[in-house]
Amino acid sequence: MSKILVIGDIYFETQYFVEKIPLEDEFSIASSATNIIGSKTINVSRVLSKKGNSIYFYGKVGDNEFGEIAKTILRKTYTLNTKYIFTVLNSQTGQISLVTNSDGKSSITLNLAANKLFNQEDISRFKKIVIDFDLVYCATNLPLNLLYLIVEECSIKNISVFIDIPNQHKLIKLKKLNNATFIAPNRQEAELLLNTKINTLEDAKHACLEIRKSYQGIILITLDKDGCIILEKENELPVHYKAEKVDIIDVAGSGDIFRAVFVDSWLKYNNIDKAIRIALKTASESVKIRGVDNTIDSLNFNISNNE
Ligand SMILES: Nc1ncnc2c1ncn2[C@@H]1O[C@H](COP(=O)(O)OP(=O)(O)OP(=O)(O)O)[C@@H](O)[C@H]1O
Ligand SMILES: [Mg+2]
Repeated sequence: MSKILVIGDIYFETQYFVEKIPLEDEFSIASSATNIIGSKTINVSRVLSKKGNSIYFYGKVGDNEFGEIAKTILRKTYTLNTKYIFTVLNSQTGQISLVTNSDGKSSITLNLAANKLFNQEDISRFKKIVIDFDLVYCATNLPLNLLYLIVEECSIKNISVFIDIPNQHKLIKLKKLNNATFIAPNRQEAELLLNTKINTLEDAKHACLEIRKSYQGIILITLDKDGCIILEKENELPVHYKAEKVDIIDVAGSGDIFRAVFVDSWLKYNNIDKAIRIALKTASESVKIRGVDNTIDSLNFNISNNE
């Protein structure tokens, strides 16, 4: 069991299911709706916790009632340690509203609210607590100057860092992430990072080598139906792993599940090849189940531990 600090966003998410997404001045009645507390990093934390790790979530909520609800759900339902979730005075808790039509397409409105209030004080606190952890998992929706400081501090203290790349692609200075153990964009994120197109496997290999020019750590690009590609530190050429062919029901969240299972297995076995195989197997199972929340709740995360 590892002790992992996940630094991330917290949202009160409402999803409305409608026949057609309303345009300006239009009105629609939802056939159903769901409310959850979520985010990409919360998905990852839930999976890491289900795999038996001790997960401390570092984040911010507002001082409205949703903040307390979020903390309670993270602690009681998702079994995360909420010691490092801070309530920001005079702020709201982050919110996401999704309106999803019968084809599964959504329109999304996001209010970052307390999630954007990370500052130097968090870095000072981080410096005091990080030594207690085996790995730090974070994403590029943090203010980039703070993310660079987090990576530096982990490097000084010899703590592994895994970075997901969902935001701010054009602004990221890969050289400043150089001391991170892993960076893990998906296909679209790698395209945005490099301002290129990744259609073929050759394109993906080329993308790894382009990233290598600025970043010396381990590069892991997930490639949806094509599996993933990895370029390890000491290797000159990237290695491709195929995804299993499966009947797809819903791919949403498969990347978060892949990354969480990869991190868990890497920490357990210290073997990248094995960690990728287990992560791919679990991600393949995850796309057969509808809904991220439902997938995390119902998937058997130990299916592939004996691979
Ligand atoms: N269409 C698919 N067919 C087979 N496997 C898939 C498919 N989409 C995703 N996967 C599995 O999930 C893993 C992660 O998928 P992907 O590269 O799309 O990550 P992501 O874009 O971060 O996730 P998401 O699309 O859920 O946000 C893949 O490596 C693969 O194992
Ligand atoms: Mg994807």
